[in-house]
Amino acid sequence: MATAVVSAVQELSGAVSSPPEKYLLKDGIGGPEFPVLAVPAIDLTLLSASSPQGERELEKLKLAFSSCGYIQVVNHGMDDAFLDEVHGVTKEFFSLPMEEKMKSARPKDDIDGYGNDTVYSDTQTLDWNDRLYLNVKPDSSRKLKVWPQNPSNFRKVLLEFTAELEKLNEAILRAMAKSLKVEEECFIKQMGENQTVLSRFNLYPPCPRPDAVLAAKAHGDASAMTYLLQDNKVEGLQTLKDGVWYRVPIIHNAIVVNVGDQLEIMSNGIFESPIHRVVTNPEKERITIAIFFSPDPTSEVGPHEGLINEKRPKLFKSVVDYTGNYFQSFQTGKRPIDLLRL
Ligand code: OGA
Ligand code: NI
Repeated sequence: MATAVVSAVQELSGAVSSPPEKYLLKDGIGGPEFPVLAVPAIDLTLLSASSPQGERELEKLKLAFSSCGYIQVVNHGMDDAFLDEVHGVTKEFFSLPMEEKMKSARPKDDIDGYGNDTVYSDTQTLDWNDRLYLNVKPDSSRKLKVWPQNPSNFRKVLLEFTAELEKLNEAILRAMAKSLKVEEECFIKQMGENQTVLSRFNLYPPCPRPDAVLAAKAHGDASAMTYLLQDNKVEGLQTLKDGVWYRVPIIHNAIVVNVGDQLEIMSNGIFESPIHRVVTNPEKERITIAIFFSPDPTSEVGPHEGLINEKRPKLFKSVVDYTGNYFQSFQTGKRPIDLLRL
């Protein structure tokens, strides 16, 4: 089977004292110091409460999503033992011998599976990252052939994790609508009958040139919403706000949530899909798990009627299968969401 894994960054990491040219950014990554962004911690148990505390939590959420696009959810109901297991199976998978990992290798021209940056052109700068992509929902999208059988609890843990995040996503989408005083179900309805849930397991190996190499280049997520279980020890995520790169700090076992392009569209631009990137660490590896929720690719997504008025006219065209469009224009360097601006 032809696969797109050229070389695992994991193997490069131990073998070279200087990264190959293809990974080096000519102008470096900026810095060396980056300020920390005050991403608010939102307590899920307060969010749905009809109390002054609940109102305050909603207000915090609205302000955060409309200014930096990020929150961190705490008291989300997943306990430490479970989240340790999520981290554990990810680490175990990436620690397997290459031959074993290659059983999950991403076939050429597919998204699902284990691999690294797809090379589209000779001039592309590559990310210092190995990842495993797996579609989880709808059930019919699962490419079980590349789902790891090793560790043996991998599949069970992935399904449990995404089921928990599905509940969390519903609660967040409801809270977002409530905070804007529009129909609570309005964003959930736009997700359609068969929303898609895509998982991405990230390994960011140590990198000898953190000043010149990115673990993930700047991007906005094509999703409606993204949920990230960060590494509890090693920071790396940065987000752009007012032209400055800020670090997203670690809160132990919190779920980092960011708005994706499709929710920016649904909210008529009130909530912002942040441009973010991942930097490398010279000594330590970093492991994260990102889960992307996107609308049913057959449903139409557009600015909610209740958020369009004279002061805020409709900012985006409606779109079907945004993710399908997204992967094309990401490679051209354009922000795909800009193509939909009115
Ligand atoms: C992503 C992403 C951030 C991280 O997978 O889209 O932005 O810290 N990940 O791994
Ligand atoms: Ni992202």
